[in-house]
Amino acid sequence: MQKDWVLGIIGGSGLYDIDGLDNPQWVDIETPWGSPSDSILFAELDGIKLRFLPRHGRGHALSPSDLNYRANIDAMKRAGCTDLLSLSAVGSLQEAYAPGDFVVVDQFIDRTFKREKSFFGKGCVAHVSIADPVCERLAELAEKAAKTAGVKVHRGGTYLAMEGPQFSTKAESHMYRQWGCDIIGMTNMPEAKLAREAELPYATIGMVTDYDCWHEGHGNVDVAAVIAVLLKNAEKARDTVKSLITHLSTLERTPSPQGIETNLDVAIITAPE
Ligand code: ADE
Repeated sequence: MQKDWVLGIIGGSGLYDIDGLDNPQWVDIETPWGSPSDSILFAELDGIKLRFLPRHGRGHALSPSDLNYRANIDAMKRAGCTDLLSLSAVGSLQEAYAPGDFVVVDQFIDRTFKREKSFFGKGCVAHVSIADPVCERLAELAEKAAKTAGVKVHRGGTYLAMEGPQFSTKAESHMYRQWGCDIIGMTNMPEAKLAREAELPYATIGMVTDYDCWHEGHGNVDVAAVIAVLLKNAEKARDTVKSLITHLSTLERTPSPQGIETNLDVAIITAPE
């Protein structure tokens, strides 16, 4: 069986402590956009090549607004990733999405405003479609993997990306609920937009840690609450990644059915010189 998947994983620092990784090696990758958050861990498992990037750096020294999202995505592309799975802590905006649950997102609302969001601009203008911002095939595989790992997982949901670093006000939290958002976080945008510009199939798992501040029956979110659930979730996240890899090792990789690897063919508007 051909297994030419190279799975990129962007996530929290505990995620790459997976037992039995073959040939683990931290590799520094520089990009024209600057440095990514950290070195990238190259490894293999079940014959699948893996590339892990700790989103906030080992030790979590970088805030969501200070991440170099372009360097992170470009470094993962240069590391040879064919597919990119992002995992992150999120707040829940819906009763049914409880702390400890995972959500395989299918839509985003981007309310971030202090971040570089495109590889294109002066000299070369491109407009990619992000109507469907997530790779459905990878999302499907991620959902299956979470189920196999015994995690309660919800398929589909709208992720509200906020700038932070402060959490939301109650007025904002209620407004996002009225907008139909399901979960809230600070990091998945512009990751998803840049992955599409880089022609990398991208899917994301939100790991619910709290009910933000809208829920009368729960206290307002704080870092202690987020970390407590995150620590409990770390093993579930690792088991989900492991089961995804086991599954990929049985599948031949074909191009994304959504044509993500060639989406720039119809996006560049600047005339060639
Ligand atoms: N990450 C985890 N919980 C969050 C929340 N309630 N708002 C924004 N980001 C979060």
